[in-house]
Amino acid sequence: MSYSHIQVQSTGAVGAIVTGIDLATFTDEAFAELQEAFAEHSVLFFRDQVLTPDQHLQFAERWGEINVNRFFAAVENYPSIAEVKKEKEQKFNIGGGWHTDHLYDQIPAMGSILYALEIPPVGGDTLFASTCAAFDTLSDGLKETLLGMRAVHSSRHTFGANSKRPAEFEDRFSNEDLATQDAIHPVIITHPLSGRKSLYVNPGFTLRFDGWTDEESQPLLQFLYQHIGRPEHAYRFQWQKGSMAFWDNRATWHWAVNDYHGHTRRMHRITLEGVPVAA
Ligand code: SIN
Repeated sequence: MSYSHIQVQSTGAVGAIVTGIDLATFTDEAFAELQEAFAEHSVLFFRDQVLTPDQHLQFAERWGEINVNRFFAAVENYPSIAEVKKEKEQKFNIGGGWHTDHLYDQIPAMGSILYALEIPPVGGDTLFASTCAAFDTLSDGLKETLLGMRAVHSSRHTFGANSKRPAEFEDRFSNEDLATQDAIHPVIITHPLSGRKSLYVNPGFTLRFDGWTDEESQPLLQFLYQHIGRPEHAYRFQWQKGSMAFWDNRATWHWAVNDYHGHTRRMHRITLEGVPVAA
């Protein structure tokens, strides 16, 4: 793909750095190229953006309807912006392990737009992995097997009343009574924008393969998790104040690295509604 209104530099198997654009003011032509780049690279990274919460919302609304997260604490006066924050005295962070957001919903969210407001002097990176590249690098035999399978996902063990969340998460999450979602999706989905096949399971929310016991499912799930997270499928993004990452949940995993104890990291996250996923 060639771009004439923005510059797009691939970051490997997943992601691209986009430059030459101010996300507070851009043309329809530049937006059309952003859409192309998003379908091609699955995560778009931007630097040095100066956005108010309203401008962040306006950017998100160009892409579709906003999904108001029912579990995360919201930014004051902005119920549709989730605050992803770890204070300097806190030990645990949000998203500190490989996962894909909203897999437990019947119609999973398309993706999220994360904007950095306060960044530790060192650390606090986010890893991304391509679940499409991970599908491509499986053997034909395993691809064939997985194409006929479905998996069961849930929000209960992470956000529900019986989840084993640290006490310091109490002010960052709420509505545990709403963590009642279970969903069954194909293990391999066809990505709605790119048409690529994507491995649609993750350690955060997947419970088992549909029709298999937990015990039977774990060895193959663990193999797939280890495979998706391989370094050649991944990219590590180093944040600066004013950076933004916009990722596609149907084509990626992400992991917020928790290596900056004693410092605050504060981000605003807007999540976008998706479409039904299919094999
Ligand atoms: C998340 O999992 O949404 C948080 C990602 C991050 O803070 O880098």
